Formats: sequence, structure tokens, C-alpha cells
Amino acid sequence: MKDIQATTDKIGFAIIGCGLVSAFHANAIRAIPSAKLIGFMDIRKDRAQQRAEQFDSTAFTNLRAILDHKEIQVINVCTPNGLHEPIVLEAAQAGKHVLVEKPPEITLERMDKMITACQKAGVEMVPVLQTRFRPAVAELRRAVKHGRLGRLFIGDVYMKWYRSGAYYQRDKWRGTRDIEGGIMMQLAFHYIDLLRWLLGPVKQVFARTARLRHHNIETEDSAFVIIEFINGAIGVLEASTAVIPGIDVRLEIHGDRGSIRLKGECIQQWYIDGQEDETLKKNLSHKGKTAAGGEADFDWQDHKALIMDFIDALRNGRPPAVTAIDGRNALEIVLAIYRSAKIGKPVALPIT
Ligand SMILES: NC(=O)c1ccc[n+]([C@@H]2O[C@H](COP(=O)([O-])OP(=O)(O)OC[C@H]3O[C@@H](n4cnc5c(N)ncnc54)[C@H](O)[C@@H]3O)[C@@H](O)[C@H]2O)c1
Repeated sequence: MKDIQATTDKIGFAIIGCGLVSAFHANAIRAIPSAKLIGFMDIRKDRAQQRAEQFDSTAFTNLRAILDHKEIQVINVCTPNGLHEPIVLEAAQAGKHVLVEKPPEITLERMDKMITACQKAGVEMVPVLQTRFRPAVAELRRAVKHGRLGRLFIGDVYMKWYRSGAYYQRDKWRGTRDIEGGIMMQLAFHYIDLLRWLLGPVKQVFARTARLRHHNIETEDSAFVIIEFINGAIGVLEASTAVIPGIDVRLEIHGDRGSIRLKGECIQQWYIDGQEDETLKKNLSHKGKTAAGGEADFDWQDHKALIMDFIDALRNGRPPAVTAIDGRNALEIVLAIYRSAKIGKPVALPIT
């Protein structure tokens, strides 16, 4: 892996794509003592300029200038979903590590090209799956990993959110098949990753998609999936941007020894071996918003935690907590869901 030199030096970051999520990255980087935000770049120069002023850093006018910059070691790819690959490939070729927003890309071909390019260049690529770092989610994962819920048999996600018509109209790429990819790709991606992280590899999916409110977008605004895992567990995954008011996402895991149910960042139930854990509920429940009602309704602390882990991994030569393969696994499930919705039949994984 590409060496991160002196351990006392700050690691330099540059952000490509200066829209909504770029501010979350910038705030997170600024809050990490071992990180330094060097600059921004966007095909819209005004946007890069605005962010540079906001965060007291440099506006770069082209990618080359960032790739050639010696102090920049990590590139944060914050362009729309289907526009990540060319930037990741160039970054890898220039020897830069990459933090790529989710979904890392929208086809497996592009995903694999990015993985191969990063491996060849000896750089790390981390997909931004920051929900894994939420305290309640991390504790849930620990419980599952240590077998505290026993044999897992149900894993559900209900993501009944609201996005306005203006959300879909504001940026041309939203709601498009070729660049956004649909609600599973754009919004449910985090929770698909969580289900797989908690319950293991997926055996097959059976999906139905629909356009329930936003009739002038190309993709679905709602999707309904039955998801079966290799370990025998089964679950339901619902995602929508049509529901008013948007409801915090619910993640519910059931095993033969108990149930853990989260809503947003709050633990609603932590019931294991006949006992409800009120202390965990109290200590790990946060009232923070989780994007149910609007695209910017969430906090950048989870981004910060993911970036801190990435820095620690680079410094200590260990794999990061979230790997490129995790991003590929979630992407494969999303693509299987879309294939199933298209053919009206269950689709088994792996898909080709
Ligand atoms: N992790 C999360 O929770 C989270 C939240 C929101 C968005 N995202 C992801 O972040 C990415 C960006 O989303 P957003 O909401 O910020 O989008 P956005 O439309 O607000 O911003 C994207 C920016 O990229 C710029 N851009 C497009 N092509 C470019 C190129 N080739 N080079 C440089 N700049 C380019 C656009 O001009 C725009 O300013 C998407 O992949 C999205 O799914 C992740």
C-alpha cells in the first residue's frame, strides 16, 4: 500500500464535487486534528470557489492540479453516482487514496475496474458507508457478531422517507437511471449494506418497484423487496421517497434469543434472553436527524468517524473498517433487486 509518510504530518484531503455532501466531508475533515483540508474542485467553478471560501482553503480549477499536488494524499469523490469511476481511476493512477461516496458506482463493471485500478496502484479505496459508525448500529453489530441474538432469522429495513418534487428537479441527475440509478442505489444503499453486514451474504431477492408520487422522474420512487440470506434468515426491505411526513428509518433484527430494533439513531428495543436493556437504550440513543424528511437532514459526525478510521488504517497499514468489497457487495444486491423488479421473478446472487 502507498506509504503515508511521517506519522506526525497531517493527511491532506481534496474534495471533488462541491454540492450537498461536500460540506459534510469538509466539516468532518476540519474536525479531525490529523487531517488537513487542502481544497475543492468542481466542474462548476463557482461551486468550488464558494466551498473554498466557506472552508478557508483552495479552489482548484482542474483535476490535474489536485493529482499533481504533493500534499494531497486522499481524494474525496463527491460527484453524482454514475460519475465516480473516471475520477477514481485517475486518482489511483496518480497514487492517491480515495474516499468514494456511496454508491461507489452504479455498475459492477465500473466497480471492478475501480477496485483493480486501486489494487494495482497500491492505494486504498473506501466507500462512504458512514451509517456503520452510528453508536447504536455499531453496538448492534457487536451484539450480532458475538451471537447474543442467537440464530438470526429476520432482518428488516423500513425506509419510508419524503423527498419533495423540488429535490428531484434541482439537480438534473436525480431520478435518472443512468446517473442516479434509483432509490435503492441512491438512498437505501446504506441500509442494504447494514443488512448484509449484520446478516451476511444474500441468497436471493424478489422485488417490485413503483413510482407512487414523483411521476416525472425516470426511476422508481419506491421499492419493496423480500430478501433471503444464505444463513437462512429472511427479511423485508422497503424504501420510498413518497411518504409524508418522512419517517425515521427502522432497522429490526430478530434472532431466537431476542430482538433489537432501531429507529433512526434511537434504540427502540434491546431485548435479549428475556431482558430489556434500558441502560443501552438510554446511553446509545441519539435524537439526531437521519435524512427521513430532507436530503440535508443529517449530521456529519458519522462521516468524521469513517474518515478517522480511514486515517488510522492508512497510518497503521491495516485494512479500513469499510472496504471496497463492502461497497461492491451492496451494489450487487441493489443490481439484483433491479433485475428482479424488471423480470418479475426472484434473482439469486451472485449475479453476472
Ligand atoms: N453518504 C451519504 O450519506 C450521502 C449523502 C448525500 C449524497 N451522497 C452521495 O454523494 C454524491 C454527491 O451527492 P450530492 O448530493 O452532493 O450531489 P450534488 O448534485 O449536490 O453535487 C455534485 C457536484 O458534483 C459536481 N460534478 C459533477 N461532475 C463532476 C466532475 N466530473 N468533476 C467535478 N465535479 C463534478 C457537480 O457540479 C455538483 O456540484 C452522490 O454519489 C451521492 O449519492 C452520499
